[in-house]
Amino acid sequence: MKNIKIGMVGVGRIGRMHVTNMQAVAEVLKERDVNVEIILADAMPGFAEQVGADMGLKAAESVDKLIADGVDALFIATSTAGHVDVLRKGIAAQLPMFCEKPIASDVPESLEIIQEIEAAGATVQVGHQRRFDAGYKEAKRRLDAGELGWLHSLKAVSGDAFPPPASYLATSGGLFRDVSLHDFDIIRWLTGQDIVEVYARGSNNGDPEIGAVGDVDTGAAVLTLADGTLATAIATRYNGAGHDIRLDVMGSKDSTIVGLDEKSAFSSAEQGIDFPTGEPHPTFAERFADAYKNECIAFVELILGERENPCTPADAVAAAIVADAAQLSLFTGEPVKIPTVREILDGSAQPVEVRALVPSA
Ligand SMILES: NC(=O)c1ccc[n+]([C@@H]2O[C@H](COP(=O)([O-])OP(=O)(O)OC[C@H]3O[C@@H](n4cnc5c(N)ncnc54)[C@H](O)[C@@H]3O)[C@@H](O)[C@H]2O)c1
Repeated sequence: MKNIKIGMVGVGRIGRMHVTNMQAVAEVLKERDVNVEIILADAMPGFAEQVGADMGLKAAESVDKLIADGVDALFIATSTAGHVDVLRKGIAAQLPMFCEKPIASDVPESLEIIQEIEAAGATVQVGHQRRFDAGYKEAKRRLDAGELGWLHSLKAVSGDAFPPPASYLATSGGLFRDVSLHDFDIIRWLTGQDIVEVYARGSNNGDPEIGAVGDVDTGAAVLTLADGTLATAIATRYNGAGHDIRLDVMGSKDSTIVGLDEKSAFSSAEQGIDFPTGEPHPTFAERFADAYKNECIAFVELILGERENPCTPADAVAAAIVADAAQLSLFTGEPVKIPTVREILDGSAQPVEVRALVPSA
């Protein structure tokens, strides 16, 4: 039996979801002779102990104590502002780590920590869970197997059923960073190509509060991939029919759609078509419930050295740079060229200028 002690750091909203998933995954992994022990920690005094008592798990009184007592890996789901601090502790202790996205508060800070991670030879898997969703994986398999021919275009849609509170929106970094980031990541992952240019527009026809904090409620980004393939990414806070996450992958031989099933959040305008008949997913947590579990399994496999890192910090930051470029394009009204992580790190390209909000702010 292989024993792995995982320190789950940050047990807030998504942290508790990851803990529940890791508990479920631990049961499954017993069949593979892997015993996963979970220990919780959080910066808020007493909070990890309280959550641990509710969930039947041990807790450490601090992250430092958790590491000092001895763990084999860290699973970081603190608020974004805490990621770099915990990553540095994990690097110093030479622990493999999972870190929720984004790895740092902005791209410049992300590039700094990437250099530290790479210099230390540390292993960090970043939380882009769509990479573990069965639909996206099947679309990638079909594309890679040549079943779709060559790609002429992709169309990503991310629709939230209702907007979050204005207080959250004010700190979200803007629609493209908050919502479209996952589409940018999955387009890069699925095609294996960098996104080299973005032209973004936005609109505000919903609650004036969203415009008042300087964000848009709906946005569209036209993306150009390295080989010239075109993609669009549309995001909205107002998809009243339900949480709608789709990707049309359209090729010269065939096309396939991720997220087209009985739970799709729309209705057909054609006569006699009842599809889809199911209840749409209310939020991302239900839509990607299996993907989050698969992500936990992948992390355990990574700790055991059984697989390659499925989402490196450089992968994750590449998507964040596209999001920054989309926010800048929204601000300037001009297309923006997108440098790669390596070009910025080796000094051959400038980072994208950081613009959080739209000019009306
Ligand atoms: N992959 C996804 O789809 C997805 C979805 C939601 C959130 N997230 C990410 O997950 C992270 C957490 O989001 P949340 O909504 O759960 O936040 P949250 O505010 O509900 O919880 C964060 C927890 O981290 C703790 N914390 C903060 N700094 C800490 C530190 N330095 N050390 C230890 N604990 C610390 C807080 O006390 C709190 O309990 C964010 O980075 C967010 O971007 C990812």
